[in-house]
Amino acid sequence: MRVLLLGSGGREHVLAWKIAQSPLLTKLFVAPGNTGISDLAECVPLSLSNLDGLVEFALKESIDLTVVGPEAPLVEGVWDRFHAAGLKVFGPSRDAAELEGSKAFSKDMMHKYSIPTAHYEVFSNVNEAKHYAVEAEMPVVIKADGLAAGKGVVICKSSQEAVETLGRMMSEGAFGDAGKKVIIEEMLEGEELSVLALTDGDSVIPLASSQDHKRVYDYDRGPNTGGMGAYSPCPQISREKLQEIVDLSVKPMIRGMAAEGKPYRGLLYAGIMLTEKGPYVLEYNCRFGDPEAQAVIPRLKSDLIPVMLEIAEGKLKTKTLEWHDKASVAVVLASGGYPGAFEKGRLITGLEALKGAADVHVFHAGTELNAQGKVVTAGGRVLAVVGLGDTLREAQDKAYQAVSKIQFEGMHYRRDIGRRALEVLK
Ligand code: AMP
Ligand code: GLY
Repeated sequence: MRVLLLGSGGREHVLAWKIAQSPLLTKLFVAPGNTGISDLAECVPLSLSNLDGLVEFALKESIDLTVVGPEAPLVEGVWDRFHAAGLKVFGPSRDAAELEGSKAFSKDMMHKYSIPTAHYEVFSNVNEAKHYAVEAEMPVVIKADGLAAGKGVVICKSSQEAVETLGRMMSEGAFGDAGKKVIIEEMLEGEELSVLALTDGDSVIPLASSQDHKRVYDYDRGPNTGGMGAYSPCPQISREKLQEIVDLSVKPMIRGMAAEGKPYRGLLYAGIMLTEKGPYVLEYNCRFGDPEAQAVIPRLKSDLIPVMLEIAEGKLKTKTLEWHDKASVAVVLASGGYPGAFEKGRLITGLEALKGAADVHVFHAGTELNAQGKVVTAGGRVLAVVGLGDTLREAQDKAYQAVSKIQFEGMHYRRDIGRRALEVLK
């Protein structure tokens, strides 16, 4: 099987690592890939915004299956373009990816199909939005409707903050077109959980539970990021409880999308808040979480290729997935300044020493080779260091021991990935 994987982050590195182990694989291309991925696959320097170039490449290389990592090409319609050319793609169509591409669409779908979510209003007119915000009970959460790389959500504690945020998003174009429409919703409180499920538009196979750590600093302080670390499974959630949450958040949405004539195929990610009133859906994403994937996929025993191919062909035959008993902890190492403006080109040391280490994986996100062929930083989130262990504590120890071997100027990371779960276990 000849596979093309699209993307260049840590999520795509772990997907490439998993796909590369499949006995069914004959050739793996990754576009554009990254330094870590180039050890496992042939990286091709194609831009993900060049859908024509990607289709042309896939046809020329007789690709049997294309796996899409990030949301942007899905929202742009990569599935539709490949499908029209007779190519098989793991990932949702453009219409289905709207669940992530438009928060207003996603909220309206949740409302229509009785999926618990925060009360909300949608605004396209800045004055109406400001008027509503002034009257609303604080705090409120303001969200840009479109894709904003994880930065389009602002929790506002005062009307003044809300009015300023609305001005930035809707009048000043802080998120471009993505912020022309906004959602204002009630703030929910509770523990967050990431629920990932594979689906062919009808059957659903949940993956193991995981929890992301969105804030930049320990104890959930500081601004939101793309995710500073994750662990899996979540001991707070029993297998039965996870199934209950899937039945409440994923299954009705899959049925709803089918009923709307927008069948959802691929991976559906439901961001859940466990509130006092029960689980509420914060958002849907149309792809694997990053860094949730780096925590979840190393625990997966089953081959992913057959499942992805079945979904790309429109019919899941696989019924369940097998998992390793081990727990995992993924710690993200970030560049100085991230999630604000960050430095690049800092030399990374210690990677060689970790090659082949037992129960440790280092997945690259923002790295590149400099002119001397050395690995240097090239992004905000640079690496995800994953530890596996018989217990979550062991996994955490493994991850942080490995982290202690890696260095680059300005490097920062959270020291409390998995802490909440360990407290629950106590
Ligand atoms: P989203 O992109 O919708 O997942 O939002 C990013 C993050 O903002 C979530 O992971 C939550 O931590 C937070 N968030 C989003 N919506 C709400 C809400 N209604 N109440 C509280 N926090 C929220
Ligand atoms: N880790 C959050 C996300 O992938 O959206």
